[in-house]
Amino acid sequence: MCGIVGYVGPRKAIPVLLEGLKRLEYRGYDSAGIAVIADGTLVIEKAAGRIAALESQLGKGGAAATTGIAHTRWATHGAPTSRNAHPHSDCAGHIAVAHNGIIENHAALRQMLAAKGHRFVSETDTEVLAHLIEQFYHGALDEAVATALREVEGTYGIVVISVKEPDTIVAARSGSPLLLGLGDGENFVASDPSAVLAWTRSVVYLDEGHLAVVTPSGYQVKDRHAVTVSTEVSQIDWDLTTIERGGYPHFMLKEICEQPESLRNTLRGRLLDEEGTARLGGLNLSPEDLLKVDRVVLTACGTSWHAALVGEHMLEELARLPTEVEYASEFRYRNPLVDERTLVIVISQSGETADTLAALREAKRRGARTLGIVNVVGSSIAREVDGGIFIHAGPEIGVASTKAFTSQIAALALFTLYLGRLRSLSILQGREIVHALKQLPGQLEAVLARRPEIERLAERYARATNVLYLGRGYNFPVALEGALKLKEISYIHAEGYPAAEMKHGPIALIDELMPVVFVAPRDAVHAKIVSNIEEVRARGGRVIAVITEGDQEIAGLVDHAITIPETLDMLTPILSSVPLQLLAYGIAVRRGCNVDQPRNLAKSVTVE
Ligand code: AGP
Repeated sequence: MCGIVGYVGPRKAIPVLLEGLKRLEYRGYDSAGIAVIADGTLVIEKAAGRIAALESQLGKGGAAATTGIAHTRWATHGAPTSRNAHPHSDCAGHIAVAHNGIIENHAALRQMLAAKGHRFVSETDTEVLAHLIEQFYHGALDEAVATALREVEGTYGIVVISVKEPDTIVAARSGSPLLLGLGDGENFVASDPSAVLAWTRSVVYLDEGHLAVVTPSGYQVKDRHAVTVSTEVSQIDWDLTTIERGGYPHFMLKEICEQPESLRNTLRGRLLDEEGTARLGGLNLSPEDLLKVDRVVLTACGTSWHAALVGEHMLEELARLPTEVEYASEFRYRNPLVDERTLVIVISQSGETADTLAALREAKRRGARTLGIVNVVGSSIAREVDGGIFIHAGPEIGVASTKAFTSQIAALALFTLYLGRLRSLSILQGREIVHALKQLPGQLEAVLARRPEIERLAERYARATNVLYLGRGYNFPVALEGALKLKEISYIHAEGYPAAEMKHGPIALIDELMPVVFVAPRDAVHAKIVSNIEEVRARGGRVIAVITEGDQEIAGLVDHAITIPETLDMLTPILSSVPLQLLAYGIAVRRGCNVDQPRNLAKSVTVE
């Protein structure tokens, strides 16, 4: 949720750290800070608000420093004030620490340290780390950090500097991502590759429990027992242009418009026309292993959970395998029934969501086979699953997930196709799905061409205070996702429901002021949803509907229709979700909301 960046080398550290922080701002943005070592002293600057606020308050202090750490925060303990912003320091002002994660036993540690005379200035859990390290410092920063971390319960990705070792950053992780960026005579530490991409594409992802000592000329990684471990250098396969807005006013709009391309990337090299199946090289499960599976559990959070609901429908309908969807946060604590014949699929754009990662670990502990549907290569989930499917959607910077959602559904369709063909799906059915998947990127272009009419709708409904989203079958999860998109970026209250459930309660809300968005492509439940639209109209509700091109029946019933091209029922969510993304975007912009960084949210939720 928060972002970390660190630098050691010959350059002036502050501009490097600020550049890195700006790349990380999408992860958390309520306050920020920098600590550098200049002439044997620690210079720390912190500010509430955006990186720009920090930048404008920086004076000349520390300008020549070449070692430093920085942090952008998403508050967990203590309000987002400048005092609570990271980095935090010890009593002597020798050590600075920036931290992602939560120190769960911070209260007990604070009490113990206070009894030893340590004075605290913030309300954060992180500050105890600085004092603990001070307490254990006997001439070697890495040893002090390792000893301090043995006292800690919770999760952390930390970077630490000390005036006593001015050319060194100590970095350690447990539960929060951290990587080293390798340069020539300089090195970087960051919580996310985008922070180092301007300088290097060579990175080392730290493993759980590992601690790194980083200097300008090299790095050393040790495990929990202080034994040096070997590391693998990975190359980031995207460049700066992929994490810049490229002429779009917001990342969210850019990412919505990228969907034809991101979907092509998800499908590339994975469709086998003749055999009517998919090629999925990363599953690490043989066909025999897969045929032993008697149940699938899909687990995820937020938008990824909505994709999982679409996946459940596909897997049951086409692979004929019992499938359940669980919120990762519930799954992990409810003593789930999972064994070696259960396939647990975790879905996560970031690959770092704390609840999803914990659900994965719980599933593995109980003996399940695990797969991940993940966007970020090198992320914790990608590294801990037995196998999986990378969605290759490219970096998603806007906090509201868009292109990852459509690519997650496409990946689930590929998996359904592969598993279905192993089980009961005929070659003809398989070929039909392959053909339909291939049409999707072009069809998405047609949907995006509807943007001007969706903008007009956004103008009309920008002042709504409540919106109801309704869908059935494959498009019930799209209704949930449409409502989530609207509420998270425009702050309008919105609810998603299965359309037929409306009459069991939400129908009471409907009057002429209530816009109701139906996701109603021509599919197996089309006739049923027509009746639901009639029910809303009978009560004076304003109806917007996403329908299939040429559907005169619904077009004649509703106030506004947005059309999408015809496709297989199972793939309609990939097309029908895009108008809802554009509608939420258009409304949020008109309400003057910060679309890419909505209040209270963060891109990747690495705390419980
Ligand atoms: C979506 O717009 C969200 N901001 C959020 O619900 C997100 O999908 C959720 O936190 C899960 O993230 P993940 O896919 O990175 O695990």
